[in-house]
Amino acid sequence: MSKTIIVSNRLPTKVQRTDDGLTFQPSEGGLATGLGSIYRQGDNVWVGWPGLFVHDESEESFITQELHADNMAPVFLTEDEIRDYYEGFSNSTLWPTFHYFTEFSTYVDEHWDAYVAVNEKFCKAVLAQSGPDDIIWVHDYQLLLLPELLRRARPRATIGFFLHIPFPSYELIRVLPWRTELLRGILGADLIGFHTFGYMRHFLSAVSQQLGLPNQNGQIETPSHTVRVDAFPMGIDYERYATAAASEEAQAHTAEYRQALGNTRVILSIDRLDYTKGIPQRLRAFNELLERYPEWRGQVSLIMVVVPSRDQVAQYASLKEEVDELVGRINAQYRTISWSPVHYFYRSFPLPELAALYAMADVGLVTPLRDGMNLVAKEYVASRLDHRGVLILSERAGAARELSDALIINPTDTRALAESLHEALVMPDDEQERRMRNMQALVQRYNVFAWTKLFMNQLAYTKMKQETLATANLDEAATAMLLADYHAAEQRLLLLDYDGTLVPFHPDPTRAAPDQELRLLLRALTDNPQNRVVVISGRDRNTLQKWLGHLPLHFIAEHGVWLRGAEATEWELFQPLRNDWKRELRPVLEVYVARTAGSFIEEKDYSLVWHYRRADAELGPVRARELLSHLSFITANTDLQVLEGNKVLEIKNAGINKGTAAVRWLGQYEPGFMLAIGDDRTDEDTFRALPPEAYTVRVGQAQHSAARFHIASPTDVRKLLRQLIV
Ligand code: UDP
Ligand code: G6P
Repeated sequence: MSKTIIVSNRLPTKVQRTDDGLTFQPSEGGLATGLGSIYRQGDNVWVGWPGLFVHDESEESFITQELHADNMAPVFLTEDEIRDYYEGFSNSTLWPTFHYFTEFSTYVDEHWDAYVAVNEKFCKAVLAQSGPDDIIWVHDYQLLLLPELLRRARPRATIGFFLHIPFPSYELIRVLPWRTELLRGILGADLIGFHTFGYMRHFLSAVSQQLGLPNQNGQIETPSHTVRVDAFPMGIDYERYATAAASEEAQAHTAEYRQALGNTRVILSIDRLDYTKGIPQRLRAFNELLERYPEWRGQVSLIMVVVPSRDQVAQYASLKEEVDELVGRINAQYRTISWSPVHYFYRSFPLPELAALYAMADVGLVTPLRDGMNLVAKEYVASRLDHRGVLILSERAGAARELSDALIINPTDTRALAESLHEALVMPDDEQERRMRNMQALVQRYNVFAWTKLFMNQLAYTKMKQETLATANLDEAATAMLLADYHAAEQRLLLLDYDGTLVPFHPDPTRAAPDQELRLLLRALTDNPQNRVVVISGRDRNTLQKWLGHLPLHFIAEHGVWLRGAEATEWELFQPLRNDWKRELRPVLEVYVARTAGSFIEEKDYSLVWHYRRADAELGPVRARELLSHLSFITANTDLQVLEGNKVLEIKNAGINKGTAAVRWLGQYEPGFMLAIGDDRTDEDTFRALPPEAYTVRVGQAQHSAARFHIASPTDVRKLLRQLIV
């Protein structure tokens, strides 16, 4: 039975050294609390850092044993690693950048080196814990390189990745000196998940602009595998919070707090100390409420739980000072003997106390400036057994995409936020209940179990699709078989595509002329009288004639429109065709050239091609989709077809393709060995037209293809062809 290995920087249990020895406590933070309910199932293992530096080996083995008994495998980090990888690269480079706080970001090469080294350390730990059939699920920004490291070690592994923080616009990502490595690192996964569609869109755009890899409906073809990208908003363990709120322990706490607070209404906020959480903004808004609505003085208190976090990072320490000062000022100004405006706790609380606070709060106040999801908002909703209470939620938390019955606010708009506080405090019970019930239904349904199931099902589906559609690698064994069949055959037919197969793509197609190596290679192949070598291309016949016409090659040009045998002196049209339609359609393409800098039109005898390889990486595919739908409309019910190639759209006569042309050649020679190599969709017609024993090879890896094999690049194609001539 395969198991799931969850990997994150922090384990859901944190080990602490106290005067009484080591203690094992639940970790704070959305990732640990969110996934805490699922990893214990079956043989699953959670690999991560236990949160302390060990003194010696015996301590290390004691902690390992204790955690092991609870399905965890610790990765121990040194003080230097924590400083450079955790406080440094993870929390002083990635965290601020991904939360749009670039002014706090540092770019330190040593931090990057440590980040690489610790990701490698995690890779080793995961490999030690997992077998080849296990599912590996990597979490969050501290381990962005891990998916690729794992992929290199285990090319066929099933790897999921989930990012728990926002993925920002490419404009921020591109600032990072290590952006290429980071994006490649994530792309090692089979399935990549984000909390919202917006983050997913940003990621796809960064991958397209930075790595030049386009996507189709969230699917990216990398050189090694197909990757799926999707949005999976994370949920919480709803029943856990509802049950905790109903527990006797929580109710006893509620009674105790109520007694201390009297009739005072309660606004509650809970977060880690973090500049992304908008803590000062919320204090200012509360201050504004007391100023604008003096009637609330003495009537409402803000209970603010701030959990200590990353206090070795400078911005966190200074934020602490700012918050202390703001709380001090508000309390000093408004406090009375019997009433405190702000009850401020700088520590973490066990679940029954948190649940008691959630359950009694009239208002849940969640005001982050940026937050991947924010689980506190959902926990508040789950804890309101009486279906009362109002959630005020920042529009910049991922949770705002789902919880539309909250009062959605802009956290930097202090006045509006103060108004929302007032509105929440005076909201009639029936409206509170309506909103709360709607949110509860949603949070209950899309809970963390549903989230995990969805992600895991999607991961399994992605893998299954990859495997059914994948072609086999033309590895040593397959090559040996191919060579043996080649040598055994008396007549051989080689069908070779040109661009992307014999030569790599050039930004300017007119400059992709054959080099000397290729000319010599083709010469040697054609020198053997047993070989018939056909260049089967989408290129126009004149270009092929000019570049390769001096060789005894056979040609199929314009995707099957023109044919020329090696001995023939003239080109032959596959069948009589029309090209009067070009007059009508050229102006349409010209409009797209005018609108898309870098794109251009290529005109062949019987087709028109719109090239967008040199257009902006993001704009090109968008315009291509637009043009495709425009052309499909115009060409409906005609005998024209629109073909999508590699960064090109081609309009041509329907019914003629490389496959139909190849068949004509086959009929003439009846070869005992057939090899077809090509790199794009137009070559699929050739692959499909050949009998099953033919060697059909798609260039570029693991693609969805009718070919039997794949090969990585034009360089490898040439290597293969060289083996045929020795
Ligand atoms: N939390 C906790 N103890 C506390 C306060 C908060 O365990 O004393 C938990 C809280 O219940 C929530 C998590 O910390 O599950 C915070 O997650 P959230 O997604 O809101 O923010 P993050 O910390 O991940 O940025
Ligand atoms: C956020 C991050 C988590 C992290 C948590 C607590 O939720 O997404 O990856 O574990 O904060 O932060 P810490 O630095 O204490 O692990």
